[in-house]
Amino acid sequence: MNNLLPAAALGHVAANRKTGDAAFRVLLEHDFATARAEITAWDGYAPTPFVTLAALAKEIEVTEVLYKDEGPRFGLGSFKALGGSYAGLRVLQREISKRLGHPASLADIRTGKYADACAAITLVSATDGNHGRSLAWGCKRFGVPCRIYIHAEVSQGRALAMQDLGAEVIRIEGDYDASVVLAKTEAQDNGWFVVSDTSWPGYSLPPRDVMSGYGVMTQEICEALEQAPTHVFLQGGVGGLAAGVVAGLRHYWGDAAPRVVIVEPALAACLFESAKAGAVTNVAIARETLMAGLSCGAPSALAWEILAEEASDFLTIPEALVAPRVRLLATPLGSDVAIEAGESAIAGLAALIAARADRDLSDKLGLDAQSRVLLIGSEGVTDAAIFNMIMEGRDAA
Ligand SMILES: Cc1ncc(COP(=O)(O)O)c(C=O)c1O
Repeated sequence: MNNLLPAAALGHVAANRKTGDAAFRVLLEHDFATARAEITAWDGYAPTPFVTLAALAKEIEVTEVLYKDEGPRFGLGSFKALGGSYAGLRVLQREISKRLGHPASLADIRTGKYADACAAITLVSATDGNHGRSLAWGCKRFGVPCRIYIHAEVSQGRALAMQDLGAEVIRIEGDYDASVVLAKTEAQDNGWFVVSDTSWPGYSLPPRDVMSGYGVMTQEICEALEQAPTHVFLQGGVGGLAAGVVAGLRHYWGDAAPRVVIVEPALAACLFESAKAGAVTNVAIARETLMAGLSCGAPSALAWEILAEEASDFLTIPEALVAPRVRLLATPLGSDVAIEAGESAIAGLAALIAARADRDLSDKLGLDAQSRVLLIGSEGVTDAAIFNMIMEGRDAA
């Protein structure tokens, strides 16, 4: 149907959706409003670009392709700037309030009223790059010691970006999931506080705050549109981005909210497998995907609660699609605006184009010439060396 080679087979599971109110129960309107009031008051806050890719839409025969470009977010390169930093601030708020015996406001912590208390609290997290960068940036702003655990394959460029923000970066031998376990264990042993973007049984407050922070992005999108898109394609790592966004869309649009399609790398398809099994399911990562931010083998329990009810379809995409779609955004069709995107940003775009080249899959997803599709460009160039490699076509190895 379209000329955007390469064509590729995607994995697809039609979700057996549960009915319920998880989008409202897990993330309260109050949570979104609190995060919005705080984050939009930060120095440097500005809505990120939201563009229409008209030539691309014409090529793949849909009405509209809407792309939210999170590259410029707070100068940190990704939407994650909204999550880790805010969740870290909320951990400080809970801990300082406990120590004081009365509530401390977010604004007072942010503006240095409790600087001594902040300096005595250590925040830690595992990351594949962007979440840790967000937390490190928040810690620097709030004067808090920060330790970030990264796995063997996290690029040196991403590690340096966190060190430059003052974080102590600890590289481990294993994969992302092993770095999550180590951060947790060392925090327990040392009285540090974990600020994770993924949740597990008994640990849900910071991941909830992380997802509430992402609501700032969703709100910017909704306020810019006159009607809801028909579809949203959301890339999945642990599922926090997807769950935060779909909850925000449901809060804003109600029954008119778009159909939710989750997209993961075939190499790290934990949400896809969870959908198949009808319950949270972990997968082993045998090989790292180029989409580093999506290389997660264990879904966030809290995110899954929302996605189990809200997501209609789960797709997997092959690695072969990643580099061509990064290049397509950077050197676009017709007069579409050029966008410099990181590898994890293009998952939805890659899946959409491939689905439009496959009539059967388009039918299954309810995609047709009337579709108006929302994509989240979740990162800009967060690692220049990898971006340059892709742009120069050195990704084929
Ligand atoms: C750029 C980017 N996009 C998407 C994701 C996926 O987010 P989540 O793990 O919340 O599903 C990540 C996670 O690190 C990311 O860095």
